[in-house]
Amino acid sequence: MPSTLVSPSGQKPLSEAAKQFRYDLLTGLNAPTQAIPSKYFYDQRGSALFDQICELQEYYPTRTEAAIMRRHAPMMAACIGDNARLVEYGSGSSLKTRILLDQLNNLDTYLPIDISKEHLHAAARELAAEYPQHAIRPIVGDFTKPLDLPEASSPDMNTCIYFPGSTIGNFTHEEASELLQAMRDTAGQRGSLLIGFDLLKQKDVLEAAYNDRKGITAQFNLNLLSRINRELDAQVNVANFEHKAIFNEQAGRIEMRLRSRCKQSIRIDDQFFQINESDEILTEYSHKYTVEGFSTMADEAGWSCRALWLDPKRYFAVMYLEA
Ligand code: TRP
Repeated sequence: MPSTLVSPSGQKPLSEAAKQFRYDLLTGLNAPTQAIPSKYFYDQRGSALFDQICELQEYYPTRTEAAIMRRHAPMMAACIGDNARLVEYGSGSSLKTRILLDQLNNLDTYLPIDISKEHLHAAARELAAEYPQHAIRPIVGDFTKPLDLPEASSPDMNTCIYFPGSTIGNFTHEEASELLQAMRDTAGQRGSLLIGFDLLKQKDVLEAAYNDRKGITAQFNLNLLSRINRELDAQVNVANFEHKAIFNEQAGRIEMRLRSRCKQSIRIDDQFFQINESDEILTEYSHKYTVEGFSTMADEAGWSCRALWLDPKRYFAVMYLEA
């Protein structure tokens, strides 16, 4: 990409991050199945909306995972052991992590990684005040790209990657197994992984979770379009789109899309896209797993399962794996 591209209306040049956003967006919109990468959900407004989703009555994953954590955190801390580093991928507000941090007495460092800079730094400041006993080193970054962690202070230290929230489900099976392999490389020989994933269940429960009555998930989805208008030279009429989330039984995943309410044209700097009524732009997958299916995938990525915790309804799973 040329580095001094100025938008046609003569506005200020885009930042490097905005250029990457524009590039990924245009690539997605030009693909045979139009899509916008879901990591762009998480600007400041998106991160705040996401925190609201986690508290919705219909959105069972956060509550269920937190209950599993509260019940079993002492065992999880025992698995992790003393003098470990806890590296969290996509830490957001670190809500579930607190349950773990409460139990880890001799933690070497907590390294939260998140793509949303302001949100991460605000969360890290709060954590530092709450946990003066823990060293906290926030890293602004995209965990889907290779990560350069600081050198571990001792060769036999357990680098434990914490990946809650069923974020693994937001990747295709192929991407998920690549990410698990990359985590295995990042964690190293003595490393481990504590991961939360959502389990397959009745369609109505799944669909309700992504179509809440207050419409927060809809706002979250539509915020992607507002973000495009805010950060890029673009004019998208957000009201011309609606949120849609359905469970694809065959693929075992929720599919979230933005559906066009009418025939329209959208402009992103000098490119125009013709969109028909009912056309859909894919914004996110949320894959649901069986314990067996997940274990097999993790196995193939070089991990072996050491412990598994479920809630009584078997809605959600938290697994501890070793390299
Ligand atoms: N990873 C979680 C899930 O798939 C959380 C999540 C990501 C989410 N994007 C979302 C929840 C969009 C609701 C809507 O459930």
